[in-house]
Amino acid sequence: MERSIEMKLTKKMQSALVMEKNIQLFKCPICSAGMEMEGHSRLVCRNMHSFDLAKSGYVNLAPQAHSTKYDKSLFEARNAVMNSGFFGPILKNIITRLDGHLAETKSPVLLDAGCGEGTHLQAVHSQLGTESVCIGIDLAKEGITAASKAYPGIIWSVADLAAMPFADSSMDAILNILSPANYAEFNRLLKRGGLLVKVVPESGYLQELREVFYDGKQQKEEADPVARFQEQFDAVETERVTYRFELPETLLAPLIRMTPLTWNATEERVREVLAMGMKHITIDLRVISGVRR
Ligand SMILES: C[S@@+](CC[C@H](N)C(=O)[O-])C[C@H]1O[C@@H](n2cnc3c(N)ncnc32)[C@H](O)[C@@H]1O
Ligand SMILES: [Zn+2]
Repeated sequence: MERSIEMKLTKKMQSALVMEKNIQLFKCPICSAGMEMEGHSRLVCRNMHSFDLAKSGYVNLAPQAHSTKYDKSLFEARNAVMNSGFFGPILKNIITRLDGHLAETKSPVLLDAGCGEGTHLQAVHSQLGTESVCIGIDLAKEGITAASKAYPGIIWSVADLAAMPFADSSMDAILNILSPANYAEFNRLLKRGGLLVKVVPESGYLQELREVFYDGKQQKEEADPVARFQEQFDAVETERVTYRFELPETLLAPLIRMTPLTWNATEERVREVLAMGMKHITIDLRVISGVRR
């Protein structure tokens, strides 16, 4: 009897093929020259700076190694929470804006700056369809490793959103969800008429956690992001999205783990809060979008 031959591509090969097809998007993070794919295993510029693809298919394009406070367990926790429907209404809002803006664009190129473990970008990619090219970058290697293992078909790269290894005017849209912004970089990367969509926390975001860990103290926010948008982008649209999410019992521990809000809490306090339980949690976020001039 003939043995069937499995034709499944490895994650690394799948990624290499997507990167190769879109190689014109990349630029060397060291010298800014264009890049080429070599042997389906590394990106190389003409000055011989070389960046290997990891086994899971991502490429590290951050010239200096960075360590961040975001570790593997945090991204596992974030993944469990984000896959529970917790972010559903926000994703719907984002996807509606993208659909409206990209309706006429045949193979849109979209980048998620500070994508974490990649669940939001995966949701967007499956809505936009396989013709779209999606790129997720984050400085936390653990986040990008998790993303590349879970979601092949997207370009995943460890990179700094303040100096992104991609060509000028190459993106149809950029997402920036609960992550720091760099408007100069967003402007450089967006095509004229490209869309920036940013999500920032509002005062009620995760208030039940703040109440038990912080006596309700507010998080420090970025100075008025809507004003920043209005200074630099056209057709600015902003909407506050607020809802209460019924929290399954199993999600309380990952919810506590995933957010910087609770990083300074003692283990004892975490145990107390877990014992008390939490029936629901408030999501209160603002979605802002604007078009590059
Ligand atoms: C609160 S998490 C949000 C992650 C994801 N967007 C989400 O909503 O689940 C903030 C993320 O920003 C990333 N980050 C912070 N500074 C960055 C930088 N300079 N370049 C790239 N990513 C950065 C962190 O590593 C982290 O993954
Ligand atoms: Zn180079």
